[in-house]
Amino acid sequence: MKKLLIIGLLFLLSMLLYAQEISTEVIEHSAENSKCFSCHGSSTYSYYNEVLERYVTKRMNPYFIIDSMVYYDQNHRSFDCIDCHSYDFRTFPHDNTLRMEPMPSCLDCHEGDDATADFNFEIINDEFHESVHSTKHSEDFTCWMCHNPHSYKIVARNSENIKETIVYDNNICLSCHADINKYQLISLNEKPNIIDKHDWLPNQFQHFAHVRCIECHTHTSDNTLVAHHIQEKEKAVKKCVECHSSSSTLLASLYKFQAQENRRKYGFFNAAILSEAYMIGANRNLYLNILSFIIFGGVILTIIVHIILRIVLK
Ligand code: HEC
Ligand code: HEC
Ligand code: HEC
Ligand code: HEC
Ligand code: HEC
Ligand code: HEC
Ligand code: HEC
Repeated sequence: MKKLLIIGLLFLLSMLLYAQEISTEVIEHSAENSKCFSCHGSSTYSYYNEVLERYVTKRMNPYFIIDSMVYYDQNHRSFDCIDCHSYDFRTFPHDNTLRMEPMPSCLDCHEGDDATADFNFEIINDEFHESVHSTKHSEDFTCWMCHNPHSYKIVARNSENIKETIVYDNNICLSCHADINKYQLISLNEKPNIIDKHDWLPNQFQHFAHVRCIECHTHTSDNTLVAHHIQEKEKAVKKCVECHSSSSTLLASLYKFQAQENRRKYGFFNAAILSEAYMIGANRNLYLNILSFIIFGGVILTIIVHIILRIVLK
């Protein structure tokens, strides 16, 4: 009883310390970042105009507005703005040459980084450089184009909810393929209309809500959870049976993480798909499977008992 009480108290203490650690982390960072957020966090900003000798309020460029709630909910939430951006941004008006500052790339920080070794950044980097985006657009197309520096957070790896992953990942592609303003940063060609280009797919909206763009547009590899090798459109998956069959490619991509986890836990492959939805052709009926196992096991057992009895009773 005493032991239990002590363990309980220790637990409570550690929770308190943990809570305090979290709160100091947030306060510490909002101190440095709040200066930037005071302007970059809303649609207007104010500064002291030395020529007019009074405060003036101006509109902030909408592309330069960062939502602090989103910022503190992403992978690099523990970062100060000036960990990536120049220290000189602390003065306003910002120096004009600052807009030319080179930005760090993912690999600058993550190459050979033990803490994120599981992600295989080096392989992702190679895959990306073989993708259509990179081969056709070289330097302009960086990882940041898909991984917004102020909002990107890992979802596929963490989320139990496959629908959430699909929406999140597809929005990354659509942020450009459905927005001419961003698309033009990369290409001045006419942007193909995604809906028209996928006319051949029946129930298009249902498909886009149940599969990711990358399911059809990348080829998967065993070394990465999220394939980055986006291929030319001619190589995209068009055959219905690639998904609507028992050897569905979805098991190697969308349901990869779940499939691995489930195989570890339950030892069978289809659990990932079964737990989410029933997809035509991709899964046989679980209960029928179990029933046939029971019947099959029963038959084997009867035969064994029969043999033993015959040997013993001889
Ligand atoms: C007084 C308001 C104000 C503050 C404080 C402020 N900014 Fe800015 N920032 C602006 C305005 C206005 C622009 C757009 C005009 C310009 O580039 O000067 C801008 C532009 C930028 C740009 C884009 C430059 C480009 O053209 O590509 C970056 C990056 C930036 N700020 C970072 C920061 C960081 C980091 C901080 C905090 C250390 C910060 N800013 C603090 C008002 C501010
Ligand atoms: C992990 C590194 C990183 C951190 C931390 C970071 N930024 Fe950025 N920021 C970038 C990169 C990279 C770009 C350029 C994006 C691009 O080229 O697409 C950028 C672009 C910008 C821009 C210009 C937007 C545009 O579309 O051109 C502004 C403004 C900005 N950052 C402000 C901030 C502020 C304010 C903070 C802190 C609240 C911050 N950044 C924190 C990496 C970072
Ligand atoms: C300036 C250095 C820097 C740059 C640039 C950078 N990262 Fe990071 N990243 C870090 C650090 C440090 C952490 C650990 C943050 C923490 O624990 O608070 C991290 C965390 C992460 C995580 C979360 C890992 C986890 O286990 O939660 C992912 C994913 C990630 N980064 C991806 C990227 C991607 C993708 C890019 C480029 C688009 C990038 N990073 C650019 C330094 C960087
Ligand atoms: C065409 C868009 C695109 C580009 C370009 C891109 N990524 Fe990604 N990346 C994604 C998507 C989509 C995800 C899945 C996000 C999620 O659900 O977590 C992802 C996930 C990741 C992850 C997490 C994978 C995991 O195992 O959880 C890392 C790390 C990553 N990307 C690194 C990079 C690096 C490094 C580059 C540049 C060399 C890059 N990405 C370029 C779209 C892109
Ligand atoms: C079911 C598989 C599938 C899905 C899901 C899918 N695509 Fe496609 N996509 C294709 C095929 C096949 C083509 C080639 C069509 C053709 O024959 O012209 C294509 C073509 C394209 C093209 C080239 C258009 C052109 O002609 O220049 C783009 C861009 C594209 N898809 C982006 C996306 C995006 C973004 C998503 C997610 C919202 C997505 N796709 C989802 C199979 C798919
Ligand atoms: C920053 C903008 C941007 C983002 C984000 C983006 N793309 Fe693209 N994508 C482009 C541009 C620009 C092209 C046209 C390339 C060219 O010049 O032919 C393209 C081309 C394509 C093509 C057609 C290749 C061909 O053979 O013509 C496919 C397929 C494609 N993208 C899929 C995706 C998928 C899947 C994602 C998300 C994982 C994605 N894109 C994210 C800008 C983007
Ligand atoms: C990338 C994988 C993939 C490909 C390729 C694919 N599908 Fe699907 N399809 C799905 C998924 C996932 C669903 C959603 C299942 C659900 O509703 O739970 C679906 C749903 C459907 C539905 C709707 C079923 C219903 O319940 O209403 C039809 C019809 C369909 N697909 C037909 C096709 C045809 C025809 C093709 C080939 C032209 C095709 N699909 C290609 C993955 C795919």
